[in-house]
Amino acid sequence: MTPKVRKAVIPAAGLGTRFLPATKAIPKEMLPIVDVPTIQLVVEEAVRAGITDVVMVTGRNKVALVDHFDHAYELEHTLRSRGKADVADAMERISEMVRLITVRQKTPLGLGHAVLCAREAIGAEPFALLLGDDLIDNDDDPGIGQLARVYEETGAGAIAIMEVPPGREHMYGIVAGDWDDAGRLRIRQMVEKPKAGTAPSRWAIVGRYVLPPAVWPLLTDTKPGVGGEIQLTDALQGLAASDTGLYGVQVTGTRHDAGDKLGWLKANLAYALKSDELRAPLIAMLEDMVASAKKAAG
Ligand code: G1P
Repeated sequence: MTPKVRKAVIPAAGLGTRFLPATKAIPKEMLPIVDVPTIQLVVEEAVRAGITDVVMVTGRNKVALVDHFDHAYELEHTLRSRGKADVADAMERISEMVRLITVRQKTPLGLGHAVLCAREAIGAEPFALLLGDDLIDNDDDPGIGQLARVYEETGAGAIAIMEVPPGREHMYGIVAGDWDDAGRLRIRQMVEKPKAGTAPSRWAIVGRYVLPPAVWPLLTDTKPGVGGEIQLTDALQGLAASDTGLYGVQVTGTRHDAGDKLGWLKANLAYALKSDELRAPLIAMLEDMVASAKKAAG
């Protein structure tokens, strides 16, 4: 019997340079999708999949992240005294969502190294890993839960994969292998950010993983790879080659790349279009904006 996946690692130590100056004084994980910080959407996905403990790997500016998942007594008290108990309750729920541990990545040595910083806090258990730049929108069956089921069934690692259009492979970790009868890819080969024309497939890793403790020694032994960074993908190649094994799973849900300006804007629009309050006025506003932009462009 494999143990249940109860713990998650969320790396949040990046400098967020793509979103400067917005991220000069706050972590990029606090950038909102409509009115919810991206980190909260990611934590909510984990919680809906049964995760109870989150280890956040932080760098500079971690205070806002920790505060966000803590009680804000003054705010809650003020909201209640103004008759806004529902909003106060919603704030309280955020602080009770998970047990949060933060560990610091002191030097930015890469994603593999960031994950390794969480080793002691996770211990000898399987864990979920969620990258905050990727949002997987699925209200019924959270992406990370789909991977946890594959782990719990097989004891192998499981990672979310998606087929990317030709020419985009260099932006991702790319995997290749054999499809099994259950529609999962038994991974044989992995390359982080392959050079143009060298990718073994168009199956890209998106930022969700469920990993067994066997990954720790592999991460410890991983030498700097592409970009001079300790790459998670390189360590996972070792897992794929071992008896434990590694599956690629096409998770269902809409994936947004919130780490990119256009992807972040699109995520905002997609989430706003799901909201009963915003949908109709947003559609009207977009139609107006598009019509006048087209007119101005002649
Ligand atoms: C990371 C991983 C990469 C994966 C990607 C998904 O890269 O290293 O394998 O495909 O996330 O978003 P990053 O986007 O952090 O450069």
